[in-house]
Amino acid sequence: MKKKILITSALPYANGPIHFGHIAGAYLPADVYARFERLKGRDVLYICGSDEYGVAITLSAELANRTPKEHVDIYHEMIKDFFEKLNFSFDHYSRTTTEIHKKLSQEFFLDLYKNGYIEAKTEKHLFSEKENKFLADRYVIGTCPKCEYEFARGDECPKCSRAFDAKELKNPRSKLTNSKLILKPSKHWYMRFDKFKEKLSSWIKDKDWKDSVLNFSKEYIKDLKERAITRDSTWGVPVPLEEAKGKVLYVWFDAPIGYISATMEWAEKIGDKEKYKDYWFDEKTKLVNFIGKDNIPFHGVFFPAMIMGQKKPYKIVDDLPANEFLMLEKRQFSKSEKWYIDLKSFFEKFTTDQIRFYLASIAPETHDSDFLWKDFQMHCNSELVGKFGNFIHRTLTFIQRFADQKIPKSYALDDVDQKFLDDIIKSITDIDIAYSNYKLRKATQIIMELSQIANVYFDHKKPWKMAKDESKKEELFTCLNLCLKCIKALSLMTSPIIPTSSQKIWKMIGNESGLSQGKWDSVKNLNLEEGKKLPPPEVIFQKIEDEKVIEEMDKLKEALDDQNMPKKAIQDLKNEISYKDFDKIDMRVGKIIEAEKIEKSEKLLKLQVDLGFEKRQIISGIAKSITPDELLNKKVIVVANIKKAKLMGFESDGMILAAGEDDDSLEIPFIQDMEIGSSVC
Ligand code: 2FM
Ligand code: ZN
Repeated sequence: MKKKILITSALPYANGPIHFGHIAGAYLPADVYARFERLKGRDVLYICGSDEYGVAITLSAELANRTPKEHVDIYHEMIKDFFEKLNFSFDHYSRTTTEIHKKLSQEFFLDLYKNGYIEAKTEKHLFSEKENKFLADRYVIGTCPKCEYEFARGDECPKCSRAFDAKELKNPRSKLTNSKLILKPSKHWYMRFDKFKEKLSSWIKDKDWKDSVLNFSKEYIKDLKERAITRDSTWGVPVPLEEAKGKVLYVWFDAPIGYISATMEWAEKIGDKEKYKDYWFDEKTKLVNFIGKDNIPFHGVFFPAMIMGQKKPYKIVDDLPANEFLMLEKRQFSKSEKWYIDLKSFFEKFTTDQIRFYLASIAPETHDSDFLWKDFQMHCNSELVGKFGNFIHRTLTFIQRFADQKIPKSYALDDVDQKFLDDIIKSITDIDIAYSNYKLRKATQIIMELSQIANVYFDHKKPWKMAKDESKKEELFTCLNLCLKCIKALSLMTSPIIPTSSQKIWKMIGNESGLSQGKWDSVKNLNLEEGKKLPPPEVIFQKIEDEKVIEEMDKLKEALDDQNMPKKAIQDLKNEISYKDFDKIDMRVGKIIEAEKIEKSEKLLKLQVDLGFEKRQIISGIAKSITPDELLNKKVIVVANIKKAKLMGFESDGMILAAGEDDDSLEIPFIQDMEIGSSVC
């Protein structure tokens, strides 16, 4: 029987448009994995849907003057549309406002309740007499208990970043009406996650997850406490108890259940209602949840506990490839701050496969990474067009010109041919491992390395010379045959990442049927139907012109100007030091009397500096920002008591102060009037 693989991507909140930052973390990696496992012939089910409940949604809906339902309807469609543009291959995309989802979430609650894992407790909560309702954190503002900032949010202070409970705020007020809030007792239901510590610890101990995900989950388990799983709201799954009128399930209680309810909906859609059990109730199914790192506790700890505590034999997650975050030009994506990529204009200018390839090559697998417009252009032009596309194009046009547009026969291989063939086969094995381990970056590297090897082989063989010499016909055909084998391999290898282009290439090398389910092993043997006529070659990737990228970068510049934002992300403040510590630094005014570049170094200048009481040699890393001439006779600030150091073999006795973190754009503060040798404080 085929191996069953159930793949999920975190259910996105239907609370706003999603962006490439989300895509790179929890969606593209899942789609690539699903496509790969389908090619390998596995029984894959890829499930996702919109997460449509929660206080964040009611709040945004109110601010937008819509009902929550109107609000989620808009964003559910928008997100679905975006996923379609990106060519995601979900088997089903659902939403959490369905009846199936409500029923299943209530069943989970009741099972856990009956099994003694959910308990009620009455505590005081913030209540608005004006609005006649309890207010959740996000509806509350007040004065920060730490820094006294008057507009702290109910869960966090944006000024000092302290996290707290809304009840700790001084002078709590309603965010919507600014009315005063009082504390009033309210009954809520708590899930006793603490009762699952042992079971979770033994379940997680031999998981082969990414270190960051595993360690984070393990630490969380150690400190598990009960958590409230109900909220006062009318928007959500109603708590299925008589005494719980006006209470709904907390969104993080119902959302992961959405993976199961979406599968049930899929089963109904295909007309086999019970089919979801084949995946969820089979111990041998591999369940992989793709998420962003902020979702780790819910998938690595809370949802597993919820499954353990209810009575049906649902699968618990087997692998949790959580990714870090993707930023845009060094800042977080933010539509409100206009720091985003307009998707409409993006898809008018660029293709789905270009963005899929780029996001795969910068996937934030081990650390946060950055979407950089110039880098996007570079990847598309020098890699997709320059290496990959170029190799395919030159091979196919040569076959058109010199082999009557038919798949040429292969004759005896020389050592270079054999090495090329071995490299092709090795690349397929390597990429198989990369995809199996969700390593998208590695996969794109393997593709580009093979394209490069192929171009080098082509250049080395010089088929244009062989074509002029009738006696070299067999060698020429062998070379072109091997190049075609390489294209076949590349088409297979790229298929999970750039499916549209890969399919085009697949057709250009003479295949009529698609590159689909279960094809991996048969394609891997690289057999070619020699003599088969090929269709005329087409260009697969277009170059991205500078203007297109500049236009997009200009939009971001405008956003910075509009908002008066600092041009660069501000670095975190270093730890506090005492005045005494600061006073240990002896800074003086010094005059530069000689300045020269250090050969073999791009960064370093050798400076002779007159401090009044003595002359010093200082080696300074400012060469990329200022020339020796510009420094000559200028007065600068020198840290005069810093320990001597040796740089590129030259002694350096002091340090020149400069503003900026980036070696390319430092600014040196010059002193105008103060005498050399004066102290700086
Ligand atoms: O962080 C988020 O976007 C959540 N909506 C993810 C939910 S994942 C799952 F549990 F539903
Ligand atoms: Zn504060």
